[in-house]
Amino acid sequence: VNGMLVDRFGRVHRSLRISVTDRCNLRCTYCMPEHTPDYQPRSEILTFEEIERFTRVAVSLGVDDVRLTGGEPLVRSQLHRLVGSLSRIEGLGKIALTTNGVLLADQVEELFAAGLRYVNVSLDALDAASFQTTTRRDELDRVLCGINAAHEIGMRVKINSIAMRGLTEHQITAFGEFTRRTDIPIRFIEFMPLDSDGQWDETSVFSAKEILRRFADHFGPLKPVAANTSSPSKDYEFADGHGRVGVIASVTEPFCHSCDRFRITADGQLRNCLFGEDNGDVRALLRTSEDDQPIRDLIVAAITAKRAGHGTDDLTFLRPSRPMHAIGG
Ligand code: GTP
Ligand code: 5AD
Ligand code: SF4
Repeated sequence: VNGMLVDRFGRVHRSLRISVTDRCNLRCTYCMPEHTPDYQPRSEILTFEEIERFTRVAVSLGVDDVRLTGGEPLVRSQLHRLVGSLSRIEGLGKIALTTNGVLLADQVEELFAAGLRYVNVSLDALDAASFQTTTRRDELDRVLCGINAAHEIGMRVKINSIAMRGLTEHQITAFGEFTRRTDIPIRFIEFMPLDSDGQWDETSVFSAKEILRRFADHFGPLKPVAANTSSPSKDYEFADGHGRVGVIASVTEPFCHSCDRFRITADGQLRNCLFGEDNGDVRALLRTSEDDQPIRDLIVAAITAKRAGHGTDDLTFLRPSRPMHAIGG
């Protein structure tokens, strides 16, 4: 049964991103409105048992890598229990978490004990004022403690930082010094047109090229690191081997041609792309059918319907109707 999730363009889908909640404890300006939105009602959110069942079905179709996202996944209570049950699924090679890090220090021990080894922490600024402007919350110190705690316990930690003009150009030196001091890799993701209130335009993207140039200007030439096949980032080391910087050029150089991922929202809807629309009501099947075959068919249909690309490079993109916190990063 392996390798069945091949789309019309020959892309094999092995990577599933699972949003476990649309709730968040930050209010990043590019993702959430200032005032708490109407969250999805509890009854519409998949239970851990439903997520586990769905994941088993996906693994039977060749998925070998899952990433838990949100909203903020750590606001879902007892998340380590889900990690524990997923880590018992045979054939699932990797379980990872993408978090804003606010609750990471509190939960790191139980997450590690449950089997979590990979965590990406979203952090857009290293000074308290810019952090507060971007997230509308004063939580920088807790995020830094969380990063440190995950690193200390032995998880593979990476930092993801959004690349936005007006923000990122002032963070280059601080992030460079941070990665050189800690050896935690830092990656920049070009700002994509996913924000619900439409603050995105082409000029608001701080491009991967510009970022690399700024690092080289400040820290000297960078050495490319051999590409990891499934990761969309291009990674570089500093000349003396300390510190690592990556860029995910989602806008100026989309990785759609090698995309191996699809996702399920917290309320159980498939999405074959960050952009576009929901592609299948898994929740309805989980709640009405004992048989896994219709779920398998739905996943295959969603992958078959996938477009070649999202179109941010030639501005033919469709803005998704869901806000980012209800899709999952
Ligand atoms: P690694 O396996 O550690 O490389 O993780 P990853 O890059 O797959 O996961 P992560 O959650 O760290 O993703 C980094 C960022 O890439 C996310 O925060 C999103 O903004 C962006 N991203 C994730 N999935 C997609 C996708 O399907 N399409 C596009 N264009 N961008 C994505
Ligand atoms: N463009 C790029 N990345 C985004 N994220 C949220 N919205 C966007 C966007 N419009 C990222 C966050 C976080 C992850 C979950 O998704 O910065 O790292
Ligand atoms: Fe929360 Fe992540 Fe959205 Fe920021 S980007 S508001 S941390 S879900």
